[in-house]
Amino acid sequence: MEANIFFMPRPLSSIAAALRPLIKGKLRTFVSSLIRPRVACTAKLYQRANISLGPNTFIDHYCILRPAGGKIVIDDRSYLGPFSVILASGGVTIGKEVIIGPHTVLASGNHNYKQTALPMQHFDMISSGPIVIEDDVWIGAQCLVCDNVTIATGCVIGGGSVVTRSTEPFGIYAGVPAKKIGSRKAAD
Ligand SMILES: CC(C)(COP(=O)(O)OP(=O)(O)OC[C@H]1O[C@@H](n2cnc3c(N)ncnc32)[C@H](O)[C@@H]1OP(=O)(O)O)[C@@H](O)C(=O)NCCC(=O)NCCS
Repeated sequence: MEANIFFMPRPLSSIAAALRPLIKGKLRTFVSSLIRPRVACTAKLYQRANISLGPNTFIDHYCILRPAGGKIVIDDRSYLGPFSVILASGGVTIGKEVIIGPHTVLASGNHNYKQTALPMQHFDMISSGPIVIEDDVWIGAQCLVCDNVTIATGCVIGGGSVVTRSTEPFGIYAGVPAKKIGSRKAAD
């Protein structure tokens, strides 16, 4: 009899345990929505009117954000690691809770290398499309993301990768050029 009491299910406490991370997550999201974006004193943001930073974003030391005729939009709670550079002539959009490691370059434009009449620096930048980084993406250190690339929700990009093609949600990609090496979803 006593053994039964000892093993009695405790529905209320188990429901509370299941709800705790959800409540904690929601509370964290709510609190962080009240925190203003932070930009380290050594980071340089050009054409500030073309840059939008969501609540609780953090631009770390020595980052450079250069809209160059495009727009840079960084959504809530995303982080740009030190020495990272965003060149946004074709536009760069970063979703929520994205982590970008140090020394990463998001370059949504190219020099017009197909013109040969004059040196390349005489021509405007060209872009085949914007860079879109969806929510909950982690880009490792020292990556390059090229124009017209969407990194889908939940992806991981290994350190030192060059991303030239769009990715599938929750994929793990690495290498030069970046290829799928796995998935965050165990069943895939
Ligand atoms: C992508 C990453 C998370 C994968 O970790 P993992 O799941 O433990 O993967 P593994 O180490 O088992 O590697 C799986 C395969 O992918 C390869 N691989 C992993 N990361 C790679 C990378 N960045 N570039 C090229 N290949 C890579 C491995 O060599 C291995 O290949 P193999 O099966 O032929 O031996 C990790 O390797 C990585 O790059 N982390 C980034 C760290 C970083 O930049 N931190 C900065 C802080 S923001």
